[in-house]
Amino acid sequence: MPHTDPFDRQITIGLGCFLEQTRIPASADGYDVTLDLYPEGPDGPVARATFAKGGNPDPLAAHIMNRRSVKEAFANTPVSGEKAEKLRQYCEVHIDQPTVNLLIDITWQAQRLEMNIPRTMQESVEWMRFGKAEINASPDGIALGGPLLESMMLAGILSREAQSDPKSQGFKEGVKVWEQMFAATPAFVSMTTDGNTRKDQIEVGARWVRLNLTTTALGLSLHPISQAAQEYEEMKPHFNAAHDLLAQDGQTVQMLGRLGYGPNTPRAPRWHWRQSCAMADQTKGPPDTSPFLLFEVFTEIGILEQLSRALLEARLPDGIIASHFGVLNHLMRGRDGQTPLKLARAFQTPKTSMTHTLKVLEQRGLIELRSNPDDGRSKQAWITDAGRAMIAATIQDLADHYGKLAQDLDMQALGDIKPVLANLRAYLDDRREQKTENR
Ligand SMILES: Cc1cc2nc3c(=O)[nH]c(=O)nc-3n(C[C@H](O)[C@H](O)[C@H](O)COP(=O)(O)O)c2cc1C
Repeated sequence: MPHTDPFDRQITIGLGCFLEQTRIPASADGYDVTLDLYPEGPDGPVARATFAKGGNPDPLAAHIMNRRSVKEAFANTPVSGEKAEKLRQYCEVHIDQPTVNLLIDITWQAQRLEMNIPRTMQESVEWMRFGKAEINASPDGIALGGPLLESMMLAGILSREAQSDPKSQGFKEGVKVWEQMFAATPAFVSMTTDGNTRKDQIEVGARWVRLNLTTTALGLSLHPISQAAQEYEEMKPHFNAAHDLLAQDGQTVQMLGRLGYGPNTPRAPRWHWRQSCAMADQTKGPPDTSPFLLFEVFTEIGILEQLSRALLEARLPDGIIASHFGVLNHLMRGRDGQTPLKLARAFQTPKTSMTHTLKVLEQRGLIELRSNPDDGRSKQAWITDAGRAMIAATIQDLADHYGKLAQDLDMQALGDIKPVLANLRAYLDDRREQKTENR
């Protein structure tokens, strides 16, 4: 998210969470996971995980399935000093009222600011999934589901448009809900680091998951709220306020969270592991079964047709276009001597268009139109030596150019999609339709 996470700091913390959530259950399954972080440097893979039999089961594994990020108002119940103490192995815990009040103010102001800057709000809106259907189709991002939100959607109060428009009723309702939620916070946690390297960020993610599993074990709820730690220009006053309160000079506030007692909430939606693996494989995405996919595919094919036609036409003599070239090529490939009517049928064009094409080709000396010996009235088209030479030169020129393209393009991937395209073509060819009536 380039606007709200300009240095990929938060996404890296998220990856740290993921890695720890891999390591902990593996330990319960009898595997010791060794992580080699950024084994090929900062631009390569984030981690290489090696699973080996052994190690000790991590007791936090017991809480994996119950862990939540609880984005709800918390009960007016204080967090005891005893429980806070158990969490201090992972983070700072703030339970004294003056600090809690300050943090409610800083975090809410930061959240409100982000919601009122169009570019930062829009970035989140694009990741919002409105209702069950969208959530199921893309179970990532910010899921807006459940009976209350779904009924607000039905009433038209909660929608993508409304969330993008601070003047809309839906937006204002959302702000109210969030403000009440921030106010209903009896305690906060914060995590700071001396350094701010990728490895520091991964380590923070791992620590956050351990903290969250421990809060789960203690019956506490935890809600990450990151806005005041974000690094974009407008956020500076809140960023500075958070750092002044929570960090020593030179330290970075990496995570901030609300802590308290929230309601039971459903688990955040997840991609099925098969889909995640397919995405990581980068050759297959999650199956997109929407009919809109067809619009997108046909649009791509249409644009490709135009672009590849332009490549051909750039190599043809002035006044000759791809359709003329097609007819000439057809004649050269052993179908010489055909009547205009037969050619029109072969190319599925009206006879008048074909007559025009043949006239152009004849005027250029690329074909000859001779009388048809069978009936004496119609003509037959015969390619001339000049026509053959023109085709040969154009094909050679194109082949040279394609040779250069082949060096740049992923030819293996293109080879892989060829049968898919051929099947699609055969399917549509079998089911050609007549023009539908205008309605
Ligand atoms: C680095 C990081 C920052 C997050 N910041 C916020 C936030 O500001 N507000 C929020 O509601 N959730 C925040 N989340 C929580 C996510 O929205 C999301 O709920 C979570 O990553 C999905 O898994 P979970 O709900 O099972 O924990 C953050 C998560 C991570 C890892």
